[in-house]
Amino acid sequence: MQSEAKITEPITEKGLDDFYDFLEDKYGLHLRWYNQASLKRRLEKVLMEFRLRDLYSLMLLIVSDRKHYEKFLDHFTVNVTECFREPKSWLEIRESIIPFMQRQQNLSVLIVGGSTGEELVSLAILLEETKLLNRARIVCSDLSEAALEQARRPIIPRAKIMDAIKNYELSGGQKELEMYYQSTATSCHFHSYLFENVEYRHFDITQSELGEQFDLIICRNLLIYFQTQHQHHPLARLVRHLKPGGFLNIGEQESLSFYRGPGNLQIVSTSQKIYRQDLIPSY
Ligand SMILES: C[S@@+](CC[C@H](N)C(=O)[O-])C[C@H]1O[C@@H](n2cnc3c(N)ncnc32)[C@H](O)[C@@H]1O
Repeated sequence: MQSEAKITEPITEKGLDDFYDFLEDKYGLHLRWYNQASLKRRLEKVLMEFRLRDLYSLMLLIVSDRKHYEKFLDHFTVNVTECFREPKSWLEIRESIIPFMQRQQNLSVLIVGGSTGEELVSLAILLEETKLLNRARIVCSDLSEAALEQARRPIIPRAKIMDAIKNYELSGGQKELEMYYQSTATSCHFHSYLFENVEYRHFDITQSELGEQFDLIICRNLLIYFQTQHQHHPLARLVRHLKPGGFLNIGEQESLSFYRGPGNLQIVSTSQKIYRQDLIPSY
């Protein structure tokens, strides 16, 4: 990234508006749907990190090369995640959803906003322990190519492994987590057999369509970044990607309250935010 200016100017309303129009027209990304205060802070941080004067300089940079757009997405997104995060939800999936899946020949799962792969690790281990891994096809997706690149080789720092082990146990894990990775002095590398049936896809919940439907969609801690009045659109996109009878799991702090149909979702677990599409959806 080239240095253009040492001093970043405060972001103006006009600059923001033009930047949103630019991203919508050129890339289809709807930044207007995001929570504005935190978005503005993150854009200011991006400008400072890229040593740019304002959002117009950022537009020029982004448009000059696709790799700058990807680097922008990587800096602008919040990639915080952990293995078996929200362990009670993983336990609920293990107890309430897996028994349905075990009756099926094949299973397809979509992870949206999967970040650097810890959610994928958690899912793959759960499917392995419930003897579904060989029958499952997993699509792991994110807006950030850099995050997806990390998800392709799931590694977590040793400093985070104790939290992962604790979460794994709370999630109903049946073995020792260390069975699934090889440790080095600094990191834990998860075994590649866990990820043989995984496809990695760029997916923007504000615009992408994958052209297929899934038995289970996990989309946690992403909707929370959107303003409530705009959450209907990404939620409708998720529901469209659900098979009849398919399950949707969102984050513990998130809600379907702002979804205005179509499709008919039954509550499987209120506390763990798990829903099921009717077998005959009313699109
Ligand atoms: C806070 S992380 C959550 C990671 C994981 N789901 C979890 O709960 O631990 C949010 C993820 O959503 C991704 N994201 C942000 N905007 C997105 C969008 N429009 N479409 C798809 N993913 C997006 C970010 O790149 C980031 O990896």
